[in-house]
Amino acid sequence: MSRQAIAHPNIALVKYWGKRDLELNLPAVSSLSLTLDGFRTVTTVERSSGDAVFVGPARASDRFASRALRFLDTLVPGRPPVVVKTESNFPAGAGLASSASGFAALTLAAAATFDQDLSLQRLSAWSRRGSGSACRSFWGGFVVWDRGTRADGSDSHGHPLAPREHWDVAMVVAIVATGPKAVGSTEGMERSRQTSAYYEQWVATAEADVAEGREAVLARDLDRLGAVMESSTLKMHATMHTARPPILYWQAGTVACLHAVAGLRESGTSAWATMDAGPQVKVLCAASDAETVRDALAPHAAAVHVLRPGSGARLVP
Ligand code: PMV
Repeated sequence: MSRQAIAHPNIALVKYWGKRDLELNLPAVSSLSLTLDGFRTVTTVERSSGDAVFVGPARASDRFASRALRFLDTLVPGRPPVVVKTESNFPAGAGLASSASGFAALTLAAAATFDQDLSLQRLSAWSRRGSGSACRSFWGGFVVWDRGTRADGSDSHGHPLAPREHWDVAMVVAIVATGPKAVGSTEGMERSRQTSAYYEQWVATAEADVAEGREAVLARDLDRLGAVMESSTLKMHATMHTARPPILYWQAGTVACLHAVAGLRESGTSAWATMDAGPQVKVLCAASDAETVRDALAPHAAAVHVLRPGSGARLVP
């Protein structure tokens, strides 16, 4: 018995950063994201006589395998042994949301293999235990993750806000540097929470940013969405820069891309930047401006990808 699932990464337009419960992986703040086409993870889960995890054709590292298998243990205690095979068509662990598509696909494939017939909302809440941002990849287009208020986390999952067809935008991704990140997101969030003087303000202003972002998405107002999007990412990075010891994911190319985006706006192109736990710069713009944005970022990046809104996680029939 085996099942296969596909999921796409999502990029937060209004960020999630900080946990209110480490064990259940509950966020301190709500967030708003766009699911992307183009990049994807395909994961197969097959019942077997023993556990094994493969990334592409090769055996996964012990760290990767135990993270995936322990996650499955939390979903279905006493589960049968499985072989997990996963493959992404983009670099993992470099701030490109590979854990979002990875855990969304793993959750969906595992639930089907274990005969769990769950709603997307339940699956979304499950996937959150593996990686918070995964819970937003169950829907296409624009998605809100409500932080929720229940202690058991059952109301902390994604909700669809608007489908991919709602708005003809593009996310232009500048790959500034590849390779695994120096500080993982959980460690970075905890260090920010414990040591940054700005963390409280980050949390205090986040819900208003999500509300602003939602309205801007529904109104298809790119300047309004872009302004709150940049503010959210810069506030998030400010909590990292002011942590002790500080966390600086940015590279020279990151800053060069930020200036290029500001320059685009000065010359009349509505383009807006966001960064995650890594050096890459992702730029939101109208689909019709994507090539102009690509040309502006290309001198500062090793590669530039133009991605469009994508669909939600799904089982392969
Ligand atoms: O859920 P994680 O561990 O992939 O953390 C995601 C954190 C950010 O990418 C920095 C922000 C976000 O909302 O996706």
